[in-house]
Amino acid sequence: MEALLQFKHVDAGYGRVKILSDLNFEVYPGEVFGVIGPNGCGKTTMFNALLGHIIPTKGEIIFNGVDITKRSPNERCRMGIGRTYQIPRPFVSMTVFENVLVSAVYGGKHSEHAARPIALNALRLTGLYDKRETVAGTLTLLDLKRLEIARALGSEPTLLLLDEVAAGLTEAEVHEVMDLVAQLRSGGQTIIWIEHVIETMVKSTNRLMCMCTGTNLVTGEPLEIMNSQQVQEVYLGAEEDDDE
Ligand SMILES: Nc1ncnc2c1ncn2[C@@H]1O[C@H](COP(=O)(O)OP(=O)(O)OP(=O)(O)O)[C@@H](O)[C@H]1O
Ligand SMILES: [Mg+2]
Repeated sequence: MEALLQFKHVDAGYGRVKILSDLNFEVYPGEVFGVIGPNGCGKTTMFNALLGHIIPTKGEIIFNGVDITKRSPNERCRMGIGRTYQIPRPFVSMTVFENVLVSAVYGGKHSEHAARPIALNALRLTGLYDKRETVAGTLTLLDLKRLEIARALGSEPTLLLLDEVAAGLTEAEVHEVMDLVAQLRSGGQTIIWIEHVIETMVKSTNRLMCMCTGTNLVTGEPLEIMNSQQVQEVYLGAEEDDDE
């Protein structure tokens, strides 16, 4: 099967500070590809490079057979890359429906009329349909996370990027997010999911990549990755650093 996304020897960072270093991986259509790794190892930076917020200084990013390494964020969004933010960023004074409608109009290149059913569908999928008239600023954290996903779905992404959508939630709420991801996956949605909770990643993903200092330490079958010595050492090392 052809990869939907390829990172080939990518170096990228902020100004002169290099964060990603020779990062290589592929994501295949229909898979939930999990990304783990200690704080600050470059997971969100990988999303920023994929979304065009930073441009690699080396290497290539290939999406759907097209070299997107130097394309603008808007172009990439229109080509089918949709994301959630690590910290939810809704328009707080707008309703849930209006928030998703905005992303369906701007991200999905639709007229408002054409965008309405797409937005409503994203709300049904994420379980927010009954709260569509609620003002976003009054939502609970779980519903804000759902709204982040609904907004990303509004642009009808071929590839959906989830950045720590389960962070800060209770165990029961994390299960709700896992159910939602499973539902999207069964509908054929390709997803890259960054999360710290390894058990969640093992249950919800097809393949798992562990990053370390801006590069791909190891990628493979989730259970195998969780039990691998390299991954255990990276996390143990991070805990020891925290104790200092
Ligand atoms: N806008 C920025 N300008 C400069 N440095 C940045 C910027 N954003 C992130 N960094 C640095 O890049 C490194 C990688 O950060 P990144 O946010 O990609 O890590 P992460 O793996 O997503 O971490 P976390 O698990 O805490 O979300 C960190 O050292 C961080 O301080
Ligand atoms: Mg991050």
